Amino acid sequence: MTERFLWGAATSAHQVEGNNVHSDWWAWEKQTPGIERSGLACDHYQRFRDDFILARSLGHNAHRLSLEWSRWQYTRSEWSSKAIAHYREVLQELKKQQLHSFVTLHHFTNPQWFAEIGGWANPRAPHLFEQYVKRVVAEVGDLIDVWVTINEPMVYVLQSYVQGLWPPQQKNIRVALRVIRHVAAAHQLAYQAIHQRFPRAVVGIAQNFEAFTVAPDASALDHRVRDTIDWFYNHRFFSMTRGTHDYIGVNYYFTTQIKAKRSWPFFTKVPLSLPTSDLGWPISPAGLRQVLRGAKRYHLPIYITENGIANASDDHRSAFIRAHVRAVEQAQSEGIDVRGYLHWSLLDNFEWASGYNAKFGLVAVDLATQERTVRPSARVFQAIIEQSRRAG
Ligand code: BGC
Repeated sequence: MTERFLWGAATSAHQVEGNNVHSDWWAWEKQTPGIERSGLACDHYQRFRDDFILARSLGHNAHRLSLEWSRWQYTRSEWSSKAIAHYREVLQELKKQQLHSFVTLHHFTNPQWFAEIGGWANPRAPHLFEQYVKRVVAEVGDLIDVWVTINEPMVYVLQSYVQGLWPPQQKNIRVALRVIRHVAAAHQLAYQAIHQRFPRAVVGIAQNFEAFTVAPDASALDHRVRDTIDWFYNHRFFSMTRGTHDYIGVNYYFTTQIKAKRSWPFFTKVPLSLPTSDLGWPISPAGLRQVLRGAKRYHLPIYITENGIANASDDHRSAFIRAHVRAVEQAQSEGIDVRGYLHWSLLDNFEWASGYNAKFGLVAVDLATQERTVRPSARVFQAIIEQSRRAG
């Protein structure tokens, strides 16, 4: 790791800010039985200063957060100067704390008015998103170091339009394919709008990379199916948006073993005998190295924009971080240009449809009192950062 390597944590607006009342997720939480409500979340909207000071005190020199579109533009024709001023303050505070900013423009949530006119299935969606981005560029663009236009486009479309687990809970492949085209177009428009104003801007997406593997005795067909899934899930969005990425943002959580099957969807997932997180996700640092090798093809700088584990007792997190940082170092020694590692997440937060039970934080949050408690693993992470600085 060089001295300029970026170390930090990532969050997203809806998951930490609280009272995100103009978003489609807020509306959906209210009307969907069995879904926990995000409520005040970590009250990060009010407590961002202290949270950034805390991040800095843990050795971080970078931080990823998202701007909430529905706060900027709370109806189709109304923009909130108060919210915009708030985000200027937030980004100024990051500068003050010397935290290199990674700013996501879309992290799963949409304004409710946008959802009501068909959301990402609406042909006007890319253009509507572009209007928001232009406003961001004009109002706070000077304060953003790294731009993340869209968080995990494939996860968004699969959860919301294929599996029907997240709003708008559709299960329609045709609509899903349309949505992914619109999201790709929105990214491209955003890329251009940002570069028009800031030619040297660093713009990309955060892509969820899953490491797909096969069993040691796998057939040729298993390998072919694996390769197809790897291409479709991990790389298709990049091929749809070629030429509009200044870096590759890697979100990595786990590995999935694939076995071919004769009938739709032509594969099954084989459970791996590995230790798992509280969400049952297998822990596999080798998978991070694998996806970094896959991302090398783009010949662009790489940032790990998310990597983390749901682990309430904190008994696995330190080893998880050590092993994944090690995988990054191994990748670097193979000539893969990784320039930063952002852990998911700084705080325990609202884990979407899983609510508050999944604890991803380096810092625990007591939801009743909003008290923050630094977990031992956060100190281990800090020691890794400090050691790497000394070595670099
Ligand atoms: C998302 C986060 C989420 C994390 C853990 C990523 O897919 O970007 O919003 O909390 O994974 O599930």
